[in-house]
Amino acid sequence: MPDIDDVQDGKQYHVGVPMEAKAFFLKGSNSLDWGIKNRLARIFSPTTGRTVMLAVDHGYFQGPTTGLERIDLNIVPLVPYADALMITRGALRTSIPPEMQKPVVLRCSGGQSMLKELSNELVAVDIQDALRLNAAAMAVQVYIGGEHEHQSVGNLVKVVDAGNQYGIATLAVTGVGKELVRDSRYLGLATRICAEMGAHFVKTYYCESGFSRVAAACPVPVLIAGGKKLPELDALRMAYRAVDEGAAGVDMGRNVFQCEAPMAMLQAVRAVVHEKEKPEKAYELFLSLKNQDAFAAQRS
Ligand code: R5P
Repeated sequence: MPDIDDVQDGKQYHVGVPMEAKAFFLKGSNSLDWGIKNRLARIFSPTTGRTVMLAVDHGYFQGPTTGLERIDLNIVPLVPYADALMITRGALRTSIPPEMQKPVVLRCSGGQSMLKELSNELVAVDIQDALRLNAAAMAVQVYIGGEHEHQSVGNLVKVVDAGNQYGIATLAVTGVGKELVRDSRYLGLATRICAEMGAHFVKTYYCESGFSRVAAACPVPVLIAGGKKLPELDALRMAYRAVDEGAAGVDMGRNVFQCEAPMAMLQAVRAVVHEKEKPEKAYELFLSLKNQDAFAAQRS
């Protein structure tokens, strides 16, 4: 029972010290509510403003992708080196221990396979299930210029509306069909539409020319996907250029989990993204860590 006889007048009012009204550190996010900002601050480092997300959701349309055959064995040991994990609910529930402390970016669109038209997606997770899974954000693929463009933008809108009710952020992922060119004009169009439709952050691809304009014209943070497996130094160079030209980090999959030393690679990517380490230096770090990487030993 509260002891009301012991209630004393406080003295530490700091009268004359105005309470600070700090702007939230992430681009375009200042007007959001506390819960969604808190979730975003778990995904993005409040120190650097950037993130290294590990994307392992590829199975949602392409099945047991190389490197993701066993998420319980191949991915769980990598999670401590990532800032956030992008994953489907099926893989999360079955293969990731709930003791994991990293924020989950839950893949919430799907419904097609690589055997059919990729843009033919629907919202594949209910907001209640995203809440049960303690998702920090929900991810939706958007196919601007794709056969089912309208439907995919509709999926984004539905997920943003549901997430806004509960303070869960939405990541829009710009999907590019085979027929579309990944140049700055296209990526600028796709990322801007996603932000205007309410996405809280957007994942797209890096382009050699004009990426800084893509990032500048998108009013929310932009991340890059890694894309197909590249030689490690090339992947680190791409991440460096992207961050240098305005990306708020990476959401990288194959260039990490298909690397022969994925733990070493993830740490090298972190050095580039969070410390702006030059790619050549980060590659040296990769080589030095490679020898200690348990996966590299297994795979050699
Ligand atoms: C693709 O559909 C998935 O959303 C992946 O998460 C994304 O492409 C990033 O993975 P990667 O770096 O392998 O391209």
